[in-house]
Amino acid sequence: MDTTPTTPAVGRRRLLTGGALTLGGVLAGSGLGAAVRRPDDVRPQPPGYGRQTVPFHGPHQAGIDTPAQAHAVFLGFDLAAGTDRAALVRMMRLLTDDAVRLTRGAPALADTEAELAALPARLTVTFGFGPGLFRAAGLDDRRPASLEPLPPFPIDRLQDGWCGGDLLIQVCADDPLAVAHAQRMLVKDARSFARLRWTQRGFRRGRGVEDDGTTQRNLMGQLDGTANPIPGDDVFAGAVWTDAGPDWLRGGTTLVLRRIRMEMETWDAADTAAKEFSVGRTLGTGAPLTGAAEHDPPDFNARDAFGLPVISEFAHIRRAHVADPRQRIFRRPYNYDDAPAADGTPDTGLLFASFQRDIAEQFLPVQRALATSDHLNQWTTPIGSAVFAVPPGCAPGGWIGEPLLG
Ligand code: HEM
Repeated sequence: MDTTPTTPAVGRRRLLTGGALTLGGVLAGSGLGAAVRRPDDVRPQPPGYGRQTVPFHGPHQAGIDTPAQAHAVFLGFDLAAGTDRAALVRMMRLLTDDAVRLTRGAPALADTEAELAALPARLTVTFGFGPGLFRAAGLDDRRPASLEPLPPFPIDRLQDGWCGGDLLIQVCADDPLAVAHAQRMLVKDARSFARLRWTQRGFRRGRGVEDDGTTQRNLMGQLDGTANPIPGDDVFAGAVWTDAGPDWLRGGTTLVLRRIRMEMETWDAADTAAKEFSVGRTLGTGAPLTGAAEHDPPDFNARDAFGLPVISEFAHIRRAHVADPRQRIFRRPYNYDDAPAADGTPDTGLLFASFQRDIAEQFLPVQRALATSDHLNQWTTPIGSAVFAVPPGCAPGGWIGEPLLG
C-alpha cells in the first residue's frame, strides 16, 4: 500500500458543481486541512499473509475445507498415450513432492525461480483423478461407481474445451504470484505424463478487503455461499468425506467442476426485485426474502398478502435446498472474468466447484432440480463440466493416490 500522503478524494460531483472553488478556504478555517495530509483511508498494512502456510499432510487433502483463498487455478490434463500405472506412480510421487515443498514456502526441486516460493500465502495444491485415469491405470474396477461424465441437462451449452480431463490440479493461494509459480512448477513436472486440456482461473475478493469468513460475492453481486455446510463440523464431514465405496477413497471426496457463464447483459436489464425473486434472497444482506439477516433460515411456507409464496416455487434457494444433511453439497466456487469480446460483451461467470461424498447421491439430484426449473437459469449457462475423485490426504513420506496406485 502506498502510504505517501495524498490529496483526499474530493467528490467528482462536488468538483463539477463548483464546491471545490471554495475548498481551500473552507479547509483552512475548519481544521479539515489535516485530512489533506493524512487521509482517513490510509490504514495500517495488513499482517504478513504472504508467509502463512496450510499444512499439506493430513487425513484429507488441503484446499477443500481450507477457507477459500483469494485466487485459484484449476488445471485439467489429458494423460499422454503410454502413461500407465507405473508412470502414474512416478507422476504422483513427483507432483506430491512439488506440492509438499511449495506449500510450506520452499522451492520445488530444480525450481528455476526459487525466490518466488518464499511467500506461499496459504498455498494449497489439491489433486483429483478423472474417469480416464482409472482406465489408463487398468483400475477401472476401483473407480467410484458414479464417477463418470454428468448426463446432459437441457440448460447445458457445453464446450468440449471446458469439459472432461483425466487429472485435476487445483491450486489456490491468497496471492496470484504464488498461484502462478506453483502452476508453472507443477505443469512442468506433469509435462512428460500429460497434456493440459484446460486452464480455468478464478478469484474472490483480495484477502484483507473484508473480514475473513465474510461470505463472498459473485459477479452477479449476490452473496454466494451462505447456506453451505461449515468446514470442521459434523454436517460437513458427513456430506463431504467419503465413508463408503472403494476403500482407497475413504477420507477423500469427489469434485464436480462446472463452468457457468453469467449472462450479464440481460441480468443488468433486470430490476432488483426480479433479481432477488429469482434467488429468494436480497442482494444487499443476502437475507432470505422471509428474513432480515443473512443467516436467518428461509421460511418456505410463508405467503404474501395475495396468498402467494414469498420465496417462489422456482427460486434458486428453494430448488437447490436439501433437508437431509448427508445429502448436501459443499460449494467452493470462484469467479471468472476473462477478456470481454470486442463489442464489450463480458465473459464472466462462476467456476462452480462442488465437493460431496458421492456425485450420484448428492450432486445429481440438486442439479436435476435446478435444470428442470430455476428462475436463475434465465441468466446462467453451463458451458463446462468435469468430474474427479479427490483422494484422501497423505502422511509425510507418502504421496497422493498411493492407496489406489501404489
Ligand atoms: C452461476 C450459477 C449459480 C449462481 C450465480 C448461484 C448463486 C447462488 C446464490 C446467490 C445462492 C444463495 C446464497 C447461498 O446459500 O449461497 C445459492 C444457493 C445455493 N446454490 Fe447456487 N448458484 C449457481 C449455481 C448452482 C448450481 C449449479 C448448484 C448445484 C447443482 C447450486 C446449488 C446451490 C445450493 C445447494 C444452494 C443452497 C440452497 C439452500 O439454501 O439450501 N447453485 N446459489
